[in-house]
Amino acid sequence: MLETRSLRAGYHGGTVLHGIDLTAGQFSVHAVLGPNGAGKTTLLHALAGLVPVGSGRIELAGTDVTRLPTHRRARAGIGLVPQGRRVFASLTVAEHLKVAHRRRPTAWSPARVVDLLPRLGERLHHRADRLSGGEQQMLAIARTLLTGPRVLLIDEPTEGLAPAVAADVLALAAQLAADGMAVVVTSPRPAQVLPIADRITVLGAGRITAALDGAAARREPARVLAALTPPRRTPQELP
Ligand SMILES: Nc1ncnc2c1ncn2[C@@H]1O[C@H](COP(=O)(O)OP(=O)(O)OP(=O)(O)O)[C@@H](O)[C@H]1O
Ligand SMILES: [Mg+2]
Repeated sequence: MLETRSLRAGYHGGTVLHGIDLTAGQFSVHAVLGPNGAGKTTLLHALAGLVPVGSGRIELAGTDVTRLPTHRRARAGIGLVPQGRRVFASLTVAEHLKVAHRRRPTAWSPARVVDLLPRLGERLHHRADRLSGGEQQMLAIARTLLTGPRVLLIDEPTEGLAPAVAADVLALAAQLAADGMAVVVTSPRPAQVLPIADRITVLGAGRITAALDGAAARREPARVLAALTPPRRTPQELP
């Protein structure tokens, strides 16, 4: 569904991503792991059109979208759930859903979203700043679902959440994938995403340090951990 080839991207002419190849298929969860500053957000933003691509290619269902502006990528079916949730403190849940739905009606109506996320249904008239972190994350995902994505990019959805709540959010990601979406989810923590991942890409300083399928990663989690840990340098190599 979504495929990148040798993707390079960065800020102000500098390069942060040095040639990323990544495939996100329908009915699957692709987990992108990496420590702080590895380039996870930059990657999702490059896919969504928020960070310009220096070179390389992004294809959505076989169509080149590398140079499409953000709104046209959204229309083509790339939905981003940003890191930090970015809900509007003073708007209620219902208002968030209404605004997102009015912008462009899709197969996802507010009623369908509430059906999927009954917890939000119970909170419809609460302001977003009165919601728990988990509820805010569900709202951020709901808002993006209303744009009708085929590919859902979810940036660090479990940040700051208690383990049980984080598990609920990831279960939602897995369910959306099982229903046919291509889901890309980032996290610095392998233990959280390993159980739901069909593919794993580990980033380190803007490069891929490991790419494995989920089953292999679950069999040998040490391979994922090794890719997340920078190699030890000998005293002679230290500056
Ligand atoms: N707006 C920006 N302008 C310039 N450099 C940036 C910008 N945003 C990020 N960077 C740099 O790009 C690199 C990758 O950052 P990015 O935010 O993509 O990492 P990340 O893996 O998402 O980290 P985190 O786990 O902290 O969210 C870092 O070196 C960062 O300093
Ligand atoms: Mg980030």
